[in-house]
Order: sequence, then C-alpha cells, then structure tokens
Amino acid sequence: MSLIYGADYNPDQWKMHPEIIDEDMRLMKLAGMNEMTIGIFSWAELEKSEGEYDFSFLDMITDKLYENGINFMLATPSGARPAWLSHKYPEVLRTTDKGEKCTHGSRHNHCFTSPVYRSKVREINRRLAERYKNHPGLIMWHVSNEYGGECHCELCKNAFREWLKKKYDNDLEKLNYQWWNSFWSHTYTDWSQIDPPSPLGETNVHAMNLDWKRFVTDQTIDFYENECAPLREITPNVPITTNFQWPELRGVNYQKFASHVDTVSWDAYPMWHHDKDCTVQGNDTAFVYDLNRSLKHKPFLLMESTPSCISYVPVNKMKRTNMMITSALQAVAHGSDSVQYFQWRKSRGGCEKFHGAVVDHCGHENTRVFKGCADIGEILKEISDVQNAKTNAEAAIIYDWESAWALDDAAGFLLDNKGYRDECVRHHKFFWERSIATDVISPDDDFSKYKIIAAPMLYSMSEKTVEKIRAYVENGGIFVTTYITGYVNENDLCYLGGFPAGVLKEVFGIWNEEIDTMYEWDSVSIKSIDGKEYTAKDYCELIHADTAETLAEYTSDYMSGTPCVTCNSYGKGKAYYIAFRDGGQFLTDFYAKITKDLFETETLPEGVTAMTRETPDAKYTFIQNFSDKSVCVSAENIVYSKHTPENGKVEIEAFDTVIKKK
Ligand code: GLA
Ligand code: ZN
Repeated sequence: MSLIYGADYNPDQWKMHPEIIDEDMRLMKLAGMNEMTIGIFSWAELEKSEGEYDFSFLDMITDKLYENGINFMLATPSGARPAWLSHKYPEVLRTTDKGEKCTHGSRHNHCFTSPVYRSKVREINRRLAERYKNHPGLIMWHVSNEYGGECHCELCKNAFREWLKKKYDNDLEKLNYQWWNSFWSHTYTDWSQIDPPSPLGETNVHAMNLDWKRFVTDQTIDFYENECAPLREITPNVPITTNFQWPELRGVNYQKFASHVDTVSWDAYPMWHHDKDCTVQGNDTAFVYDLNRSLKHKPFLLMESTPSCISYVPVNKMKRTNMMITSALQAVAHGSDSVQYFQWRKSRGGCEKFHGAVVDHCGHENTRVFKGCADIGEILKEISDVQNAKTNAEAAIIYDWESAWALDDAAGFLLDNKGYRDECVRHHKFFWERSIATDVISPDDDFSKYKIIAAPMLYSMSEKTVEKIRAYVENGGIFVTTYITGYVNENDLCYLGGFPAGVLKEVFGIWNEEIDTMYEWDSVSIKSIDGKEYTAKDYCELIHADTAETLAEYTSDYMSGTPCVTCNSYGKGKAYYIAFRDGGQFLTDFYAKITKDLFETETLPEGVTAMTRETPDAKYTFIQNFSDKSVCVSAENIVYSKHTPENGKVEIEAFDTVIKKK
C-alpha cells in the first residue's frame, strides 16, 4: 500500500542531455517519488513520420524509471499532434464556432469527430498497449490530456444532427416544441437546416445551446472511448483515467464522464495567496475536491498541481513553504490517493518554462521547493495506509452541471455572472468550517444516505429530480434550497403553475411569484424571528408561505413584511427555502441552527478545519490551518507534526498541517 507521489515527466525535452535524465533518477528518489506520468505529449517522438514508429526512447525511459523503483502512468498522446499529421490530414484540425479552420499548433485542439484522427489515435494507442502491456512499471493509463473545447466542422455538424435525430426520435416536431421554436419564427422544416450555436448565427435558442453542450460532452466521451478500445482489449487489468481540468465546472460534463473512467483524476491549480485570506481558496478547493471524490464515491487522484507558482495567471504567487505541504495534503484529506505535480523539471524553453516544477533551472536539490517536495514525500510514506481510505459524508451539496449550463444563458435575472458555483461554495462553507464531511453530488446521485442536502440555485431540474426531492423529504430528509430553484425543466421550458416546479410547492409549502435582481449598491434588509438582522444582495424573490412556517422576513423595500426564509414539515422531513442571496452572516447562523442535533463537531480555532478518512483499522484526521496565524490544538494521536506537543497541545503554524491517527 502506498499513496502515489510523482509528477508529469517530459524527458523528450532532454533527449540531447542524457546526463540530465540520469540526474533526474537520483533526484526523484531523493524527493521520495514513486511514480512518473510519461508520454503525454510524445507523439512527435513516437511516430516521426506516418507509420514510422520508434519506441526506443520510451523503452529506455520506462526501463530506467522501473530500475530506479519508480512506476509510471503511460499517457496516450492525442493531446497534441505531430505537424506531419495536421498537414497531411487537415480534417483533424478544429473549426471554430465562426467557421474558421484552425492551423497546426498549440495543443488540445483536434476535431473530436474526424475518422482519420480517431483511427490514427487508435493505432498509436494499440502499439503503446502492445509494447508495454507486460511492463511491470505500468500502473495506469492516462488517456490524452485535459479534453475540452468544441469543433464546428461539417463532420461535427452532421454528427450533431444525427445526435438530435436520436434524441428526438427522428421527429422534427418534437424538437421544435422542446426548443420552443415557434418564438421568433425559428421553426425548422428539415434536419439539415440545423447548425450548432454560433455568434454568426443562432445563440438565442437556449434549449439548443443545452443540447449542443450535451452533444459536445457525448462526442468527447465517444472520442475517449475510441482511444480506450485497444487499451481495454490489450491491457484489461490496467485501470484507465483521463485528467479532468481545474475548475470552471461548466465545460465537458464530468458528472457524466466519470462513469467511463476507472479512477477520477484532476489537475488542481488553486490560486493560493491570491486572496489575502487563504480560507477563501481553502473553502473553494475543498468544494472541488469533495466534488471529485463524489463523482465516483471513491478516492480520486490529484494528477497535477504546482509545487510553487502558476505561470499563466497575471500575478504569480509562490506557494509559502507550509502551504506546499498543506495544499498537497488537502487533496489527500478530501480523498485523493496521490499527490502529483506538473511538471517534474522546468522546461528550458517553450511557454511553460517559468511554471512551478519540482526541479528548477538551477538543476539541483538545494532549493526551497525541492526540499518542500522531499518533506511531502516523507509524510506520504508515513501515512501510506491512507490509500483507499473512505470519507463518510452525511451532508451533501448538489452541484448540477446541466443547471450551470442553463443558468449561464437565462435572461431575466441577468447579472454578468449569476454566481451559481460561488453560491454552492458559500453553502459548503459552513460544513467545511465545522469539519463536517460533505459530498458534492449531482441530482442523479442516491440521496438516501444523507441527513441533509442543500441544493442552492437549482434552476433547471427534470420531473424525475422533482420527485426525488419530494420522496427524500417525505422519508425524513432535510432539504435546503434557495431562490432560482425549479424554474425550468431539462430542456429549459418553464414549469407552469408557479415556481418552484410542480409538487415542490407543496414540499416547501411556498410559491414564488417573482424575483428582483439588484445592483451592487442595492441591498434589502431582513429580520429573523429571533430578532437577528441580515442583508440580502444580488437576488430577492417575493414568495408566499402556504403551509410553511416563516423563519425570517424582508424588512425593507416593496417586499417588506413578506417571508424570505421558510421551513415546511413534509412527511417525516423538513424543507427549507431561502429566497435571497446572503450578503453576510445569514447562512452560517442558519446552518448552525438547523444542523445543531445532526453532527458531532469539535470546535477548532478560526481558519482551521479537520477532515477524516477511515480505513478498516484506523482513522486519519488532517487538521489544516488556512489562517495566517499560528494556533494550538489538542495533541493526542499525532502522526505528523512539525512541532513537539507540550502540555497536551501542539502548535500549527500559519498554513501548516498536523495529522492524527486513531
Ligand atoms: C495543465 C496541463 C499541463 C500544464 C499545466 C500547467 O493542467 O495539463 O500540461 O500545461 O496545466 O500550466
Ligand atoms: Zn470537427
């Protein structure tokens, strides 16, 4: 048992410097690494011209790593093509949404439909699988790199039309109705008239935008499956992953993609020290890790991260030394079975030469960053049986990819950014601060294992989801939702008969008449029944309580005297509705009250959180200080700490971590 500790290793860059490759082996061992991810962008090295395969360099690297006790994940190289391929087969190049054909260059920009690209990729993957199937160092396939984006070539347009025919049973009437095409005379009379959304053509049919995004996800997965076919056939026992990308959480739908990978892996680039207060980033990152773990409800892999700075952001903050350790361990605390970096050694040239790496241009181990990485290697060895340990979450936040897509388009409560993701993070904050393990799930997950579920701003939902929420509350669940929930179905058609959707009006015991959108200078005041005052910002709904009890009312503006927080008993459960966006302290007080009897929580100093993972024999708790002040916590059961306990207490410096084992 061991946690994976490694990095993206791109030795193709150092082919002319064999001494550097040898030195890499020494340094990898010195850093305590046990894995390297190789071959991610190696196509030009592996197939120098069409059909001329040469694996000698990769043979040498895989053997060298293995001889030095380092396993490897082997990547398929489709993330970037050799120039000869783009030039000989221009159909592999992407076309933009304005119809411009891209020229060769950069990466992550292939057409995901092109039969030529698919067959070339399948062929090189087959050869890689054949060649390395018996290599004892091969532990996982890393398919491509950060799939994303879309293509608007004729092949893709036709594939989209076929996808639509299948979805709408070959019935154009059905499509016209679901897309509400009688508005603005958008009715189609032939499938060939449908072009994907484009700034030069159609962007206003929101249901079409949604279907296009679903198609892009499906076509990306289809492309991935085409890559996997030879791998699954030739190496059925080698698990497959593809690295998901740090997080807008609204590109390719990972909630759908997850069922196609054996292990979820994620590239994490949180911007530490970019906010003055690191708890902001701490909370946001915890949310994304909780989502990662919840994608398959099992441990995931931190596939990439930077040990020091991110090079592609406007201000390049170096990770403080304690934060190097805390950020790496935060992933593990939330369910990662690895810590991996991009990249092992800084490139000498190219656009990422100043991006953080384990080995800097100076080339030796006497750097702050290298020493920090070596320390992390030691800690990971110490806690190696955390591998595969579970997180037992009894609270969940719903984050729904499809709803995020639909909300982006919706006009009528149109702030520049409706802040769906941020609102979910704000609700997650209470649980994170109180060290309550929380899953971040999709509406398709099983609700029954949670004591409480919060689904902020769940704008779009299918009738199936409506019924799931109803049944969950009826059976005793506590469900919290907010403004902008249950407005439209999965095709962006408004629910008739008042919001929220259908029977949810009974479940929540309210109905929602209208929503006011506010400027930054606007606010509305609120008073709870226990006399506390709060402020609302951005959004306020005018709601009516039918069977629900009012927990707070608006006290200013035209909705003054009407309810804004309600609780309804329904079956054995309770359904809470919050009609506004919290401008301050409300959510913390609200959750403290309604979860009072649900969870046992330990009070930790401000900015400090604890996450626990359980193996059959032990419980590991990671206590992490995201504040910029040194704090003390109780000292029993410590397995890792920088400071020696004194009088039953141990110090945790700013941005540092201690680990306990019980
Ligand atoms: C992404 C990519 C890497 C590298 C890093 C750092 O995550 O997968 O190849 O470009 O970003 O910028
Ligand atoms: Zn295409």
